[in-house]
Amino acid sequence: MTLKEVLESIKPKDEERKKVKLIMDELRGIAQEVIEESGEEIEVKFVGSLAKDTYLSGDHDIDMFLAFPLSIPVEKLKSKGLEIAESIGKRLESYEISYAEHPYVRGVYKGYQVDIVPCYNVRDWREVRTAVDRSILHTEWVLKNIKGKNDEVRLLKRFLKGINAYGSEVYRRGFSGYLAEILVIKFGSFLKVLEKADFMLRQKIIDPENWLKREPEIAMKTVKREIEEDKPIIVIDPVDPRRNVAANLSWERYGLFYFKAREFLTKPSTELFFPRDKKGNYLEVLRRKGTHLVTLTFEPPNLVDDIIIPQVERTAKGLARQLELEGFRVLGIDYGRDFIFLEVEEIERPRIKIKKGPLYFTHHGLRFFDKNDIVWIEGKELASEKSSLGFIVDVLEDILRKGQFSAGKNVKDAIVGANIIIDFVPKALAQEAYLFLSREKFRVK
Ligand code: UTP
Ligand code: MN
Repeated sequence: MTLKEVLESIKPKDEERKKVKLIMDELRGIAQEVIEESGEEIEVKFVGSLAKDTYLSGDHDIDMFLAFPLSIPVEKLKSKGLEIAESIGKRLESYEISYAEHPYVRGVYKGYQVDIVPCYNVRDWREVRTAVDRSILHTEWVLKNIKGKNDEVRLLKRFLKGINAYGSEVYRRGFSGYLAEILVIKFGSFLKVLEKADFMLRQKIIDPENWLKREPEIAMKTVKREIEEDKPIIVIDPVDPRRNVAANLSWERYGLFYFKAREFLTKPSTELFFPRDKKGNYLEVLRRKGTHLVTLTFEPPNLVDDIIIPQVERTAKGLARQLELEGFRVLGIDYGRDFIFLEVEEIERPRIKIKKGPLYFTHHGLRFFDKNDIVWIEGKELASEKSSLGFIVDVLEDILRKGQFSAGKNVKDAIVGANIIIDFVPKALAQEAYLFLSREKFRVK
């Protein structure tokens, strides 16, 4: 296998390029008409991998930004921006409104997904006011620095996808496209980035634009914050010293990259770029391991993943801790927007709890004697027995009802009313359950 062959299948051909260009031109035209009618002073800017020419063949999402002048207030950017984005959306095949930090429109045009995103027309980081404003600066920085390494970025992106480490969304926490671009620009090629997998962790800080020299105070603040939050690597955004481009990268996803990069360098294979589907049966895994799966399913409120998923994570950890305290060994947890998995060793525990008491000839001893129903002597101390719930579902329901677990505030109500099922999952979760129980999800050997 050669990298050339991989590239052959991921690099867009002339025909696709032409089509993409044409579609972007048409979209620009539509947007400009709508803008003209509105009388606002807005610039249309394309960002993302199409604008940077780092997209993979067949990857059809177009990021079209509506850049407003800095003179208008944020509130107006939000309302006017959405209004105009929606008017553009109406001229496409279909569209819907999506809610991030501020609302934007997601439409479909000639088979391409088009995100229409209002933002500020910023010239540098000091002017950034909303989370999406930086994208324009990112695009400019990449275009200026990529120097023909576009295909190296494509290889890295495809590799990261193949090993399941691509995508910075919260439910994934992998490498973003922009991070892949920065690494190739910084280290020179796809292979060189792989060679740096270990070095990057040790070095910890990657600072391609020398912000630590140019803006030491601000850049140091970023570094300190990210170290405190125990991020695997800190890549100071070339266009903004306040931001770690790898802020959403988890240790697990970096770990996949770490081991798979090593594997590829010692034994190159296309399999890593284009892996076979990891399919399997979770019931078989449960039988083989002799463990049990507790699944909670629930309906979270209609908020974006960025809010819901970290809260579900916190709740899952809280429930696991509570179950451990109740005497159930929890072997692993996993979660998504609307479910929590807990793998446990046993689903039954003894129906009694033994409590060790104080010395029997003390004041405390007599209180213990009064308070408990079954009391006996062990040496000079008292002990008692109390009946308790034995089945994990009963215990969990008790924990949920009493609300005695740490949870995210937006998801707590939903989770308190969750369905609890043992050793069985709804069909939609079967593959997730398999990846979790088999540990294929983050398997490196
Ligand atoms: P995309 O996620 O669409 O990335 O974000 P991309 O670069 O276009 O890559 P692919 O090919 O679609 O996967 C669009 C822009 O949003 C900003 C970047 O500027 C990116 O180019 N962005 C997105 C980030 O800075 N960080 C992120 O985690 C995600
Ligand atoms: Mn994109």
